[in-house]
Amino acid sequence: MHNQLETLRQFISTSNYIVFFGGAGVSTESGIPDFRSVDGLYSQKYKYPPERIVSRSFFMSNTADYYDFHKARLLHMDAKPNPAHIKLAELEKIGKLKAVITQNIDGLHQSAGSVKVLELHGSVYRNFCMECGLNYEVKFISGSEGVPHCSCGGVIKPDVVLFEEALDDDVMVESIMHIKNADMLIIGGTSLGVYPAAGLLNYYRGSKLVLINKSETPWDERADLVINGSIGEVLNAIVL
Ligand code: APR
Repeated sequence: MHNQLETLRQFISTSNYIVFFGGAGVSTESGIPDFRSVDGLYSQKYKYPPERIVSRSFFMSNTADYYDFHKARLLHMDAKPNPAHIKLAELEKIGKLKAVITQNIDGLHQSAGSVKVLELHGSVYRNFCMECGLNYEVKFISGSEGVPHCSCGGVIKPDVVLFEEALDDDVMVESIMHIKNADMLIIGGTSLGVYPAAGLLNYYRGSKLVLINKSETPWDERADLVINGSIGEVLNAIVL
């Protein structure tokens, strides 16, 4: 691990356009379970298979059951940023990191101070009425009984990308721009199994592709450096 950290330090010190691409594994050290690890959300027993619940068709047909799950398993308003979020914000502050591209919906990168955060799968902190478009705070959602409704009577939907839904075009275009410009791409805490998010990595053209993940991913062979470990500990070990 020592040599790997040394290589990571060298890559960072010789880069000025670092982009981070992350997933649920970045937030596990903040107490938020990921999806596909053995203790992840998709392994937990629930009234319906969790992967079915977080789909557009389920949201439309079983809205009350969706919200039971959303409030119980997707809202973590007390979670705090961990060293991974904090170090990435520091790298941005010193001008080395230009963007965090995340699949997470927990807002922890912003809480840690990151400014350019591209949320491929949206955020639980943004909610809107499906009829009139009025925006609602997450507190309104967590404080509501059953399905939250707008003052106009419409159903409120969290601004999270459910299965069967498209990602935001502007977020995708900006993410591709940053990855194309990156001289270093750090990927962390993601199984890289969900598209189109994982497909964005194909736009990286540099030679400092770093993967920091507890388990293997389909991109391990293509990475210039693979560190199998806890991303909070690994990034925390980097002295800037
Ligand atoms: N440090 C490093 N890696 C970690 C850590 C950690 N502390 N904790 C977990 N991991 C790794 C796991 O080994 C796993 O490979 O992070 C990865 C998390 O993978 P997933 O649970 O599949 O999460 P993610 O890749 O973000 O899922 C992508 O799938 O369900 C959809 O929309 C959901 O955004 C999510 C998408």
